[in-house]
Amino acid sequence: MSGTGDRQAFPAGRAAAVVVKAIKAEPGRLSAADLAAWGAAAAESWPELQPLLRWFGEHKRDLPWRHTRDPYKIWLSEVMLQQTRAQTVIPYYQKFLQLYPTVQDLAAAPLAEVLKAWEGLGYYSRARNLQAGAEYVTETCGGTFPQTAAGLLKVPGIGRYTAGAVASLAFAQPVGAVDGNVLRVLCRLGNYPWQQGNTHDRRAGEALLDSLQQSGRYPAGPLNESLIELGAVICRPGAQADCPACPLQAVCKARISGQVKDLPRPSRRLTPLPEEQRSFLLLINQADQTWCFVQRPASGLLAGFYEFPSLDGKVSQEEINRYLEEQGYHLLKLDYLGPGRQIFTHLIWDCDFWRAEVSLPQESGPPELTASQICGKLGSTPLPGRSESQLAEPELVYRTVSHKPAHAEEPAPELAAAGFSQTAIWLNPARAAARLTFPRILQSFLPGSGAVDSLL
Ligand code: ADE
Repeated sequence: MSGTGDRQAFPAGRAAAVVVKAIKAEPGRLSAADLAAWGAAAAESWPELQPLLRWFGEHKRDLPWRHTRDPYKIWLSEVMLQQTRAQTVIPYYQKFLQLYPTVQDLAAAPLAEVLKAWEGLGYYSRARNLQAGAEYVTETCGGTFPQTAAGLLKVPGIGRYTAGAVASLAFAQPVGAVDGNVLRVLCRLGNYPWQQGNTHDRRAGEALLDSLQQSGRYPAGPLNESLIELGAVICRPGAQADCPACPLQAVCKARISGQVKDLPRPSRRLTPLPEEQRSFLLLINQADQTWCFVQRPASGLLAGFYEFPSLDGKVSQEEINRYLEEQGYHLLKLDYLGPGRQIFTHLIWDCDFWRAEVSLPQESGPPELTASQICGKLGSTPLPGRSESQLAEPELVYRTVSHKPAHAEEPAPELAAAGFSQTAIWLNPARAAARLTFPRILQSFLPGSGAVDSLL
């Protein structure tokens, strides 16, 4: 992962001075060779890390992926652990491995089923990439994982961090794995003025840890994992850092100079996230109190998931009325429920919620399906949040009716293949347990929305 050949051209002490000067002058333009030279120099004067490894041996959390050296299982855990806490990941990890015990099983599984197993973990592109990677390992590598970081980087969806983690943890390769936690630990130990989200600072951290690994002073897997663990449980962000419990407190330069809670420095987002305005309709069939859900497009954000019907932008009562008439519904009662915001990684939905009671056109009537029938048909269709258990509720009754989505879309292929020509599902919660209350459903579809919480 780093150019050791280049590094020999730089005597460590001089290189460090040159590179630090260059970082200050023009941080974005440092070459890979300069960074590697800086990493080598920093590693040479780095404090002794044995106390960290001892602490890890004695105090590490007992997590299921720490009992294996199977690269497939380690890869899976690392992907699940991106953006998600270890305690949340454990049941998903175990269930996923029951469904797909080997990389070949994952490669052969239908994507919709894989997404179903991922349901609730969020960041669904991870599941799509995982399956694409499994196909590559199965078809191009004959089912055997590459053992080096360079080889692993060729697997679709595997980036520098994951390549380093799998290479070191499964194959004991001396290569670093720098995620946000590890970068924070290194930043504080060296008291570097690094900034969150800064690519150059991350590269500096990677060069440093690669050099520490290549020094051969520590076992590769435990070195990476002990840094990950320290960042996760002790060297926490900001004021949450628990310095008195840290095995490296005596040598941590940020602690000695009182900078811990200010490092790494917060990022300054130069461009605000784009905002999309959406108006969601909680569309209720007055006759039987069923609610309408429609399927999102087969690609893009939350692809294939169900949500409440929505209109683009902020809309007036007249526009809602017109939209409903176009669907063949007759509006009986319309209430504005309030605003809500849903923040994604790259986009914010600025939402309005409306409750609309309607009557359905005559021809849309039965057939009604029981929950188990519809779950059979839609068994592999992903739903957001915790909705899987709600759909498994045996007392629910579903029915599909003809529905023209606001955005012209074909029904998703799995829906069409299951014999559904329509895109809307009407769901009757009337006899469901109390946990299936109106706001709970709303919350499971738009988790984290402050305005939704206020509707509770
Ligand atoms: N976060 C990322 N990788 C991890 C690991 N191997 N153990 C615990 N938390 C992690």
